[in-house]
Amino acid sequence: MPEPIRVVVTGAAGQISYSLLYMIAKGDVFGYEQPLILHLLDIPPMMDVLQGVVMELADCAIPLLREVIPTADPAVAFKDVSAAFLVGAMPRKQGMERKDLLSANVKIFKVQGEALDKYAKKDVKVLVVGNPANTNALICSKYAPSIPKENFTAMTRLDQNRAQAQVSAKIGVPVEQVSNVIIWGNHSSTQFPDASHAVVNLSGKQLTVAEVIKDDSWLRDTFVQIVQKRGAAVIAARKMSSALSAAKAATDHMRDWFQGTVYGKYVSMGVVSDGSYGVPKDLVFSFPVTIKNGQWSIVQGLTIDDFAKQKLAITGKELEEEKEEAVAIIQA
Ligand SMILES: NC(=O)c1ccc[n+]([C@@H]2O[C@H](COP(=O)([O-])OP(=O)(O)OC[C@H]3O[C@@H](n4cnc5c(N)ncnc54)[C@H](O)[C@@H]3O)[C@@H](O)[C@H]2O)c1
Repeated sequence: MPEPIRVVVTGAAGQISYSLLYMIAKGDVFGYEQPLILHLLDIPPMMDVLQGVVMELADCAIPLLREVIPTADPAVAFKDVSAAFLVGAMPRKQGMERKDLLSANVKIFKVQGEALDKYAKKDVKVLVVGNPANTNALICSKYAPSIPKENFTAMTRLDQNRAQAQVSAKIGVPVEQVSNVIIWGNHSSTQFPDASHAVVNLSGKQLTVAEVIKDDSWLRDTFVQIVQKRGAAVIAARKMSSALSAAKAATDHMRDWFQGTVYGKYVSMGVVSDGSYGVPKDLVFSFPVTIKNGQWSIVQGLTIDDFAKQKLAITGKELEEEKEEAVAIIQA
């Protein structure tokens, strides 16, 4: 068995973490042979609740879980970690837009960027889940200059999973038969869920989703809106934001980052833009990526029609505005 790796989860007393911690501890992310030490960060008023989570993790009797360190101190939480799940933030409530969250959350990610810079391993892989995830990831990376900016990512995998589930339900096949649905841009209602490059495996043959569904207006309109508004629909039904599915998506994102993507398949991640597809640089923007040896690369050469160009511009503009607001909040 290899040596245990240290993994931090912030917002560890919250509802996403309640599902996520179990998935990580039992090996879904780093493999079923990799022992772990879990660092759990939350704020001081949540320490009693966090103790309850620690008790439950012990009661799960998970062989890979070697130690659990609950703390409210970022210096302890980020010490020597190889992976960071930054979940802790204020969740979006019913009727609240992501922009309302910016002011409350940007400051948290500045502090955590500084702590990562000071205490984490220099090759730490950081996934930001807390909203607004893309801009939080950007701010976090700015305050951790000693860690490569490629190591900071934002989660759009839940949107990808939602999109993949909608397409497979429409066609009537299991989700695993559908791949390469893309989420472009921000993890917000301006995101562009794009099925124009998606493929479906039917009786051993790979066909495009468009030729199987044969309904352009569904793909360009209904599908896009269902995925964009799925988070709000879950909140309306549950009176709380998505948690189980968010935890599953976080494990999918980190597993693929650590273990690589399957040849010919790509996944969507919020990553720092290099200007691909005309997206402004220095934004954390969701692109289709492939991953090898722990390094992601943006998929190049996809055809972007005028409809898609317009959608990419809308979500890119929102991210530029968020970035400006975030910088103003921090400098105020
Ligand atoms: N990217 C996505 O796809 C996606 C999906 C679902 C939810 N989210 C976001 O994830 C975040 C967490 O959601 P949740 O439902 O678990 O919320 P929650 O309120 O149940 O839990 C959040 C936890 O974070 C803690 N926290 C707050 N500030 C902290 C800090 N400075 N350091 C450490 N911990 C801190 C809180 O005390 C709480 O325990 C929210 O921002 C939510 O909007 C993102």
